[in-house]
Amino acid sequence: MEISGKVAVITGAASGIGRAVSIQLAQRNIRALGLVDRGDNIDAVAEEVNRLAGRAVAYPFKGDTTDSEFRASVFESMSSKFDTVQMCVPAAGITRDELAVRVDKTTGKARIYSEELFQQVINVNLLAPVYWALEMIGRIAEKRAAQGLKKWLPAEGMQGAIVFIGSISSQGNRGQISYASTKAGLEGAAATIMKEAVFYGVRCGVIHPGFTDTPMVRALGDDYINKNILPFTQLGRLIRPDEIADAICFMLTNSAVSGELWADAGWHAPA
Ligand SMILES: NC(=O)c1ccc[n+]([C@@H]2O[C@H](COP(=O)([O-])OP(=O)(O)OC[C@H]3O[C@@H](n4cnc5c(N)ncnc54)[C@H](O)[C@@H]3O)[C@@H](O)[C@H]2O)c1
Repeated sequence: MEISGKVAVITGAASGIGRAVSIQLAQRNIRALGLVDRGDNIDAVAEEVNRLAGRAVAYPFKGDTTDSEFRASVFESMSSKFDTVQMCVPAAGITRDELAVRVDKTTGKARIYSEELFQQVINVNLLAPVYWALEMIGRIAEKRAAQGLKKWLPAEGMQGAIVFIGSISSQGNRGQISYASTKAGLEGAAATIMKEAVFYGVRCGVIHPGFTDTPMVRALGDDYINKNILPFTQLGRLIRPDEIADAICFMLTNSAVSGELWADAGWHAPA
């Protein structure tokens, strides 16, 4: 599937991996990009993408990805100004890390992970990406129905592609009960979408990045990174966001690729 000439929506686009994917799609001649983030700097990132691409390609949308009206308005705006959205990378994500169960030394009581925090992480990391994907598929399905098209045929060419951002934590990681659960959950969602959405010619996959040099990872602090991350990677350094963005572009474009891609720099997790 060609990137050139398509319309895409990227969430979490104001930072890290989402920003890097936006820059690469713009440089690979995408027609228009909806850049979604709740961060105030989303306008500045859109300007940066346009400057690097040397043309007006990025359109900022400031809002929360868990808001379904906001989601619909982004797709409505992009499809009415340009064309049906055919590529979606819902990259917005959060961590709310704490041990699942911890015994308070003074009281002797066990404190279990907050259900409220768990729900928050599910909403942002699992429900929202799945619904941004479904919103795109729904609009492609409607367009096809209006054209009298039924089951997709390979001769039509691919009609859409989605890449979810999983994580090496999907295999389990201390202190990440909520985050790991949502990232593993994306695997089931992607596998189901892959089976259902091919009816409309849409593919879906999951990339599992290892520790990547973004504000999310830098927030862990240099000491933590040097002690707990770098020794367990074969590369001996953090992955660059542009390396993950390159892998995402590969997954979007190469229709022979299905399922999951581990972009983990040879991560060997400690027990
Ligand atoms: N950095 C890594 O090592 C790594 C590894 C594996 C997976 N990931 C995943 O990659 C994705 C991007 O992570 P990153 O490292 O670039 O993080 P980041 O913190 O640099 O960027 C995340 C962006 O998402 C936005 N965001 C968060 N919640 C939002 C919401 N509800 N609505 C709108 N915007 C929201 C933030 O404002 C931020 O700009 C996440 O899904 C993350 O879980 C990151």
